[in-house]
Amino acid sequence: MSVHKEVKRVTTHVLHEMKVRGEKISMLTAYDYTMAKIIDHAGIDIILVGDSASNVMAGHETTLPITLDQMIYHASSVVRAAERALIVVDLPFGSYQGNSKEALNSAIKIMKESGAHAVKLEGGKEIKESVERILTAGIPVMGHLGLTPQSIYKFGTYTVRAKEEEEAQRLIEDAHVLEKSGCFGLVVEKIPAKLGEKVAKELEIPVIGIGAGGGVDGQVLVFHDMVGLTHEFNPRFLRRYLSLYDDIKGAVGQYIKDVKSRDFPNAGEQY
Ligand code: KIV
Repeated sequence: MSVHKEVKRVTTHVLHEMKVRGEKISMLTAYDYTMAKIIDHAGIDIILVGDSASNVMAGHETTLPITLDQMIYHASSVVRAAERALIVVDLPFGSYQGNSKEALNSAIKIMKESGAHAVKLEGGKEIKESVERILTAGIPVMGHLGLTPQSIYKFGTYTVRAKEEEEAQRLIEDAHVLEKSGCFGLVVEKIPAKLGEKVAKELEIPVIGIGAGGGVDGQVLVFHDMVGLTHEFNPRFLRRYLSLYDDIKGAVGQYIKDVKSRDFPNAGEQY
């Protein structure tokens, strides 16, 4: 029997057990009650209330503008929906960088006001002190390395990270630092598959990849991308399971036609 099938509520311990047993971990983003309910009922292991809400929900070009209060709004909607998944919330840009006391306060505010189970921070050695300080409050922390979208203006592009040996070595060192600091898991984004596999093999904590190949311990995608609600974003790592952009556009077009032609509402659709 898989760990996945046995548990009523996924915890950080369950995720660790899944890694030990070689059972892959599934993770998707959600930002609202209705979608989170469907994703949770489908049996996802982790729901990430990602700061990608800044792009997907608010239409910003980057993840930088979203605020702590906006993240709490999204997270509390997801918490009200999910009964089984572990809910991880991104600490947004500007709420933790360079100040471990502020990181702790931001993490406490998220946990207190949303009811989520863990927070995620981007970065390596430079966030070590923040990770350790947040953990003193008993808040589980997930790391995020590779392409870290909050640093997009430093990178300059969204291309694959750590292709060169020096950056790959730095990423491996950062992964070890995060594990030693007490992170319960790590997201690695857009890195070569061989490097993803190496990191997952070297660490005892689960390593979840997005564009990091099949050798990691689990996969995460942005929900709106995997169901095709977004249609202009087509990276190689993305598998689309539905084409909801086209389906919804078609349905709305049909509705408009029905209204204009007086086909809707018909006799059975009125009082
Ligand atoms: O914000 C987000 O959606 C993320 C995932 C891409 C891992 O951090």
